[in-house]
Amino acid sequence: MTFRILVVDDEKNIRSGLARALEMDGYEVIQAEDGQEALKMMVKSEIDLIIADLRMPKVSGEELLKRVVSAYPTIPVIILTGHGTVDNAVQAMRNGAYDFLTKPVNLERLGLLVKRALGRRELARKHQELQAEVFRLEKRKSGAEILGKSAPMHRVFELIEQVAPTRATVLITGESGTGKELVANALHNQSPRKDAPLIKVHCAALSESLLESELFGHEKGAFTGAAGQRKGRFELADGGTIFLDEIGEIDQSTQIKILRVLQERSFERVGGEKTLTVDVRIIAATNRNLKAEVAAGRFREDLYYRLSVVNIHLPALRERPEDVPLLAARFLKECAEENGRDIQGLEPKTAMALGSYRWPGNVRELRNVVESAVVLSKGSYLTPDDLPPHVIERSDEDGIRIKLGIPMAEAEKIIIRANLNAYGGNKSRTSEVLGIGRKTLHRKIHDYGMESEFIRSGGDEGVST
Ligand SMILES: Nc1ncnc2c1ncn2[C@@H]1O[C@H](COP(=O)(O)OP(=O)(O)OP(=O)(O)O)[C@@H](O)[C@H]1O
Ligand SMILES: [Mg+2]
Repeated sequence: MTFRILVVDDEKNIRSGLARALEMDGYEVIQAEDGQEALKMMVKSEIDLIIADLRMPKVSGEELLKRVVSAYPTIPVIILTGHGTVDNAVQAMRNGAYDFLTKPVNLERLGLLVKRALGRRELARKHQELQAEVFRLEKRKSGAEILGKSAPMHRVFELIEQVAPTRATVLITGESGTGKELVANALHNQSPRKDAPLIKVHCAALSESLLESELFGHEKGAFTGAAGQRKGRFELADGGTIFLDEIGEIDQSTQIKILRVLQERSFERVGGEKTLTVDVRIIAATNRNLKAEVAAGRFREDLYYRLSVVNIHLPALRERPEDVPLLAARFLKECAEENGRDIQGLEPKTAMALGSYRWPGNVRELRNVVESAVVLSKGSYLTPDDLPPHVIERSDEDGIRIKLGIPMAEAEKIIIRANLNAYGGNKSRTSEVLGIGRKTLHRKIHDYGMESEFIRSGGDEGVST
């Protein structure tokens, strides 16, 4: 890209001399004869750098500098100054000028200075872009709207509205990708604590000892590597909310400590003796069946009851197919905008395919599928060909398409998957219609590596046989 430099000086010779030198270096130059004209030009075209004389009629260099610094802080200004007025130039630098050049201008120094100033301008611009990007992503993550028009989602919205303003501990359950984190965000954002921090802890990502010091902090020398004292997440969340994600993964000793925080709001740092008390609202989430974990002796029953004072359960996407079109339309719009694509919508067949797929990865998977389709698509409507093959396998309502020339095993896999889908994952029913034994069906599901797809199917009696 070519940089555009604005040269401002009331002496025509100096202006055009500088302009010529800069143009030889490949820059685009525009000229103004005083500060007022310069400000007008800045409104009209985008400027990357300003080189300005100090003493000019109407709007002086000092005044111009002041306006640029406040209105266009990323545009560097280089001041031109005559002999004997260097003091003024130094003052200008204090006021935000990038550097100064004394007249007569040494062209070599001019070249170097311009290059350096533009480099900084680029950095500032990139920084700004990144900041905007971070802001956008954060907004998308925390302020994202929870979409849904199905009855179970309405129930979820009601619960959120009801419990968000309270201090009640909430346990959010649901399969992976159903929106648990979104709900946690909403609970915090709609609570009186919304201006205090929402601290998230991904419990599964940390080892037992790390998790404890992460949650409760540690004193200097508490363990090897604990160089200084450190505050834990509970302390950081004081006055706000802590979100314990994947709570089903924590070990017994941490469970006891969390239970104590729930009961007394107090704890000690690792290696510390002082008891700290915090005012924290606790929200936890899990994609495990915590009751089963309790029954199996892996999760403390008392903690389970403390955590699930209120339980918000997010239904799997396949249990609320009426939400699919709504979500797909929203993701399509967002992805198309982000990728600068002009895509109007889905072809009816595409919509049908999305509607009849099982979505084992729930809303997250739907989002990914739409995103990749948007990137792949060539037209202004998404076609079934834009979708990953496993999604469209059973798009025709009463049949499946098996292409010529595919191996028998592949065809069998498609047939089994399609029928299982059609019968809601019920293996007895599926083996009946396929005319094979239930054990045979289980073995084939296993051999084809499809277990994870059908493990939670409704109306099934387990895959252990
Ligand atoms: N109802 C919804 N409306 C809009 N977007 C949703 C909805 N549910 C989920 N999403 C989106 O799907 C993705 C997954 O959601 P989220 O991270 O909240 O799931 P999760 O239940 O926490 O999953 P995991 O158990 O894997 O952590 C996110 O991009 C989220 O914005
Ligand atoms: Mg999550």
